Amino acid sequence: MAGAIRRAGNPGRSGHALAIRSARDLFVARERLAELFGVKDSSRFVFTGNATEALNQAIKGILRRGDHVVTTSVEHNSVMRPLRRMEKAGVRVTVVPASPDGAVEAKAVAAAIRKKTRLVAVVHASNVTGAIQPVGEILRIARKAGAYTLVDASQTAGSIPLSLSGLSADLVAAPGHKGLLGPQGTGFLYIREGVPLVPLIEGGTGSRSESDRQPDFLPDAFESGTLNSVGIAGLSFSLAWLLRRGIDRIRRKETDLLEELVEGVGRTGGVTAYGPREPSRRASVVSFLVEGMDPGEVGRRLEKGFGVLVRAGLHCSPNSHRTLGTFPEGTVRVSPGPFTTREDISRFLQGLRKIAASRR
Ligand SMILES: Cc1ncc(COP(=O)(O)O)c(C=O)c1O
Repeated sequence: MAGAIRRAGNPGRSGHALAIRSARDLFVARERLAELFGVKDSSRFVFTGNATEALNQAIKGILRRGDHVVTTSVEHNSVMRPLRRMEKAGVRVTVVPASPDGAVEAKAVAAAIRKKTRLVAVVHASNVTGAIQPVGEILRIARKAGAYTLVDASQTAGSIPLSLSGLSADLVAAPGHKGLLGPQGTGFLYIREGVPLVPLIEGGTGSRSESDRQPDFLPDAFESGTLNSVGIAGLSFSLAWLLRRGIDRIRRKETDLLEELVEGVGRTGGVTAYGPREPSRRASVVSFLVEGMDPGEVGRRLEKGFGVLVRAGLHCSPNSHRTLGTFPEGTVRVSPGPFTTREDISRFLQGLRKIAASRR
């Protein structure tokens, strides 16, 4: 990133050496993204500032007045808030309830689809319970019904293998800063060929500059204005690391840690864990509550006493907490990553036991 800021030519904007070099770096980052998600044509990936921007582009760029959308009760607000806005513009929204462990049944999604359903939007795995949704089945059902599909892969990109050529999703969004291990301020939207998406933002792209109309080809159609090439350089570096390491290997490691974590949290008296019990059915997050103790207080004690940083509260997903019955206080969420060790898990569990015991 320091190198990128030192030689920050604007990709596609000039013919000088620095601009060409930046354009090449950008291309390499896009190619790495395509390789990681099993897509041949890297131009189908457009860079965004975060997952929220990608999700807004997907939702607002595909829906029109009179359309119907099916989504679930465990979506992040970056899906729900744009959908609520679209309701004001004449779009109908059906929210399919998830089970108390946060999982959605594909047949419930099927039952919610109507003639006018234009979009089925589903999170790949909940950022609250970690529950992995049956996206393959949901996408097949949606496609058969003639609806477009949007997968929010924010909690899984980079930590659970995801081949977009096998998945047949029309639109996939994720941030760069979570499992993809990149810097904040990066993200992407994957747009399948033939999806009639309208850009939310138009402007200079450095291409077809003789025309005052937005180019219709990717990625330019959805990348107006100067990109965050410094952030993308960081993302490119972490993508290269992920490609070398292999997502399968990361997933195996995180599943082992999850097993210890879920078991340890479950065995701690006075603590309730949420989400599927089997680590294979969950992404690398575990949500829990200590009986009679505010989640924020548990988070503070874990940090102060044990050096463990967790996220407490509603996780920008109030509907998930309504589904779990943990609204409005929320839960405490602990999330092992590729650099988490067994010792980290033990330290966390030790801390949790002490906190729970002090309460009782
Ligand atoms: C499931 C889910 N969707 C969307 C987002 C939004 O991501 P961002 O903050 O990059 O916009 C997050 C963030 O953690 C998330 O977990």
